[in-house]
Amino acid sequence: MIQTAREWLRAARSVVALTGAGISAESGVPTFRGAGGLWRNFRPEDLATPQAFARDPKLVWEWYDWRRQLIAQVQPNAGHCALARAGVKVVTQNVDGLHDRAGSSDVVKLHGDIWVLRCVGCGESRRDETVPLAELPPRCACGGMLRPGVVWFGEALPPREWQAAEDAVARCDVLLVVGTSAVVYPAAGLVSLARAARVIEVNMEETPVSRLADASLRGKAGEILPELLR
Ligand code: OAD
Repeated sequence: MIQTAREWLRAARSVVALTGAGISAESGVPTFRGAGGLWRNFRPEDLATPQAFARDPKLVWEWYDWRRQLIAQVQPNAGHCALARAGVKVVTQNVDGLHDRAGSSDVVKLHGDIWVLRCVGCGESRRDETVPLAELPPRCACGGMLRPGVVWFGEALPPREWQAAEDAVARCDVLLVVGTSAVVYPAAGLVSLARAARVIEVNMEETPVSRLADASLRGKAGEILPELLR
């Protein structure tokens, strides 16, 4: 199967990878679902909703600051690097920035970026890679409170990113779906837009995408992607 998938990739003019937390798992970043997943020990409604932030911004920030510290200590893995080397356009649900660090230049971030802070007062955004942050919650120069520049449950995806993702997926010849449980919408819905494309899934487990995919490759992204994109 991997041989056939490689032929599709070789013949393709446009390849897009839709990635999720699984691609960063081998770097040491916990996924959300499944064994060791963050949502096993934390409740999303306590940490990743606008209501949680309104209720207890310090608690939410403590969790994001912990994740920022964890991510700052890890490196992109062979999966991120294979996509970057092959020049594959990436549409990611991840906020960790590891695709950027691997050298991918074309990355659409559907769920934002954990390294961006956005003021809830004036709306200004800035990049800040300080870990740990000196003050929680951090403050904007205008005096307003800063929030993580990520998309929380119940919030809309950034419209420009969503449009870019839709366009890229609708136009591609091959869609790689890598390390996502494909249960969080609207991101998961992108797969059904890839009508003309071959869909190749790379995941350790079966997901709702597995039965739609033209090829479903079981295993670690860090092992399969370098092989696939060689
Ligand atoms: P999940 O944690 O839901 O799913 C991770 C997927 O990666 C699972 O299907 C695993 O089988 C797979 N996986 C784990 N290790 C892997 C490896 N080494 N190689 C390949 N696959 C592997 O993560 P996402 O699908 O990204 O949203 O979750 C989607 C969204 O839900 C996240 O962006 C986040 C979360 O709640 C928000 O916070 C808004």
